[in-house]
Amino acid sequence: VNYDRVRPVPVILLGPGKVGRSLLDRILRRRDVLAQKDGLRLDLVAVDDGSACVLADEGRPLDAARLRAICDAKSDGRPLRGLFGAGPSGAWRSPDRLRGYSVRPIVVDSSAAENSAALLEARALGWRLVLANKSPLCGSLGSFRLLTAPGAAWEATVAAALPVVAVLTQLLAADDPPLQIRACVSGTLGFVASRLAEGVPLSHIVVEADALGYVEPDPRADLSGMDSARKALILARMMGLELDLDAVAVEGLYPAEWDGLSARDFLDRLPAQDAGLSGRAAAVAMSGRVLRYVITIEEGQVRAGLEDLAPTDALARAPASDSIVVMRSKVFDAQPLVLSGRGGGPAGTASCVYGDLVALARELRR
Ligand SMILES: NC(=O)c1ccc[n+]([C@@H]2O[C@H](COP(=O)([O-])OP(=O)(O)OC[C@H]3O[C@@H](n4cnc5c(N)ncnc54)[C@H](OP(=O)(O)O)[C@@H]3O)[C@@H](O)[C@H]2O)c1
Repeated sequence: VNYDRVRPVPVILLGPGKVGRSLLDRILRRRDVLAQKDGLRLDLVAVDDGSACVLADEGRPLDAARLRAICDAKSDGRPLRGLFGAGPSGAWRSPDRLRGYSVRPIVVDSSAAENSAALLEARALGWRLVLANKSPLCGSLGSFRLLTAPGAAWEATVAAALPVVAVLTQLLAADDPPLQIRACVSGTLGFVASRLAEGVPLSHIVVEADALGYVEPDPRADLSGMDSARKALILARMMGLELDLDAVAVEGLYPAEWDGLSARDFLDRLPAQDAGLSGRAAAVAMSGRVLRYVITIEEGQVRAGLEDLAPTDALARAPASDSIVVMRSKVFDAQPLVLSGRGGGPAGTASCVYGDLVALARELRR
């Protein structure tokens, strides 16, 4: 590969977690292919984990050895603070590392932080943005619009690698907006719903899911339904609904007051939810129906909650841990448009983020 003929594109990574590290690995492994096929080179100029920001030397991107050292540190649970004399978190906004590049950088946010202010600043400078992080798109409507203006990509925020955002974008461009979207977009809640139906109590399912690596360290992120609600809000806002997160009717699998508890106390209390949910699941199973956690967008309203579905319903027929999205529009009327598959997990999500990143970088080609 003749690297003199490729266009270097500076990339800033926020959040070198499971997804971020898998992305770095992919960038390193695809380097030659990207140069050959697209005439592009993705140069990491900064990696920030919220504790510190490792910056490239001026004019020299972070090389494979430094990127691997960053990944090793984060996999071992160590902060970037103290690594290679890393600078303060947020230092990626300093433009001197970008000297020598003829194009503006692409910021990839694969953290779970509320980063809106910094991302808005970057957008105001004309920097491009790839999001796996849903949080910034669930703040004010004004920030949603600025963050999703041309030059941004956020496919991984909804159902990870399943190309829901791309399909919805196409339907909207075709002026065939969905009249209804119903979806199961939480692998964890799908697993919970199917195990409840098999008679396993919620508190046991959470232990099982943890052992399988399905849940976050604090399972409330999933069990509150807020992760699904955020995905629903992003789709609804793309459809032009002027809603905030608190307008989404969300059913959590535990009382809202428990949000104030420590993670330990929460897990200790969880068995109190077992009887109610198991009874509900048993009644649904007895009636021959299927329990699923469903998001629905229709007639300007958005909701997320447990539903008992007819066994013929597409949402009920898909494997419980898969994502499935069913859209009805004027064109997709009698037979709705259905997207389904797994595509989650760090590697699938990173592949989706990489796809967004390359698509934006291609726009910057000579
Ligand atoms: N995993 C999936 O399958 C999947 C699928 C779709 C979307 N997503 C989304 O992708 C994002 C990353 O997921 P993940 O599974 O990789 O989570 P993760 O392993 O917890 O990674 C998050 C990373 O962000 C870092 N971080 C914390 N605060 C930060 C800040 N203020 N600025 C920059 N970085 C910060 C964390 O550092 P510390 O470890 O030091 O705290 C960690 O390295 C999340 O928003 C998630 O919702 C994940």
